Amino acid sequence: MKKISLQDLRKMKSEKKPISMLTAYNFWQARLAEEAGVEMILVGDSLGMVEQGFPGTLPVTMEMMLLACQGVTRGASRPFIVGDMPFLSYEVSEADAIRNAGRLIKEAGVDGIKLEGGKRQASTVRALTRAGMAVIGHIGLTPQSATLLGGFRVQGKDAEKAGELLEDARALEEAGAQLLILECIPAPLAERITATLSIPTIGIGAGAGCDGQVLVFHDVLGLYGDFQPRFAKRYVEGGALLREALKNHVTEVHKRTFPTEAHSFGMDEAVLKEVGKS
Ligand code: KIV
Repeated sequence: MKKISLQDLRKMKSEKKPISMLTAYNFWQARLAEEAGVEMILVGDSLGMVEQGFPGTLPVTMEMMLLACQGVTRGASRPFIVGDMPFLSYEVSEADAIRNAGRLIKEAGVDGIKLEGGKRQASTVRALTRAGMAVIGHIGLTPQSATLLGGFRVQGKDAEKAGELLEDARALEEAGAQLLILECIPAPLAERITATLSIPTIGIGAGAGCDGQVLVFHDVLGLYGDFQPRFAKRYVEGGALLREALKNHVTEVHKRTFPTEAHSFGMDEAVLKEVGKS
């Protein structure tokens, strides 16, 4: 199976073919995403919330991201795989950013790395690109700085903030970013940014005018409790299905209807008689 390249993704933009991206955090999720036909997988730091139960993404560490990225790269070979840079792994210095991004690429085999922020990250994006890495930018609602942004809310609703986001997008492209995630911004603004850039944009809560769409694995499958962001679509009540299956199993164990002979291993009677005699 041929690996999806950055060139393939750019070609999809120029041919107006939508790019599909899902998050995944381990081997089996990556395998399912690949089998579904996605072009890209994001090992997002959202893993802190949907896999580890933290209230936000700030506690996520490089070690957590490395383990998750290693599972994902073992589970999928065709999609372009992006590893997220966790909070404080790229902000302290460019040297730190290069070292940590390099670990995701060298030790986990991801194809590119993602970091949050616009203009303020341009020189880091430039440094990573100079080091030979594919960098994916992320603007709009950037969860690692949600406190500064006033919480998890739509960004760029007034002319000034919308203008800043457009400038952020241009600055990241100019610095060498290969793709841009646009999170929770008005659809017309996302469409304008997409038309302005030559690199592909992938939206989440940014309307249908982006070059592609990304959603969190657990949101698509209904695995993350009752909370459902407005922009996400749940295609199956996966949590309810799994809960039912597990309840059935526990009931069968309690009633001794599992295991049956079909799930057990037999033994020759004569051999059994000899057990313990010697
Ligand atoms: O961590 C993540 O899953 C993300 C997506 C929501 C874009 O950054």
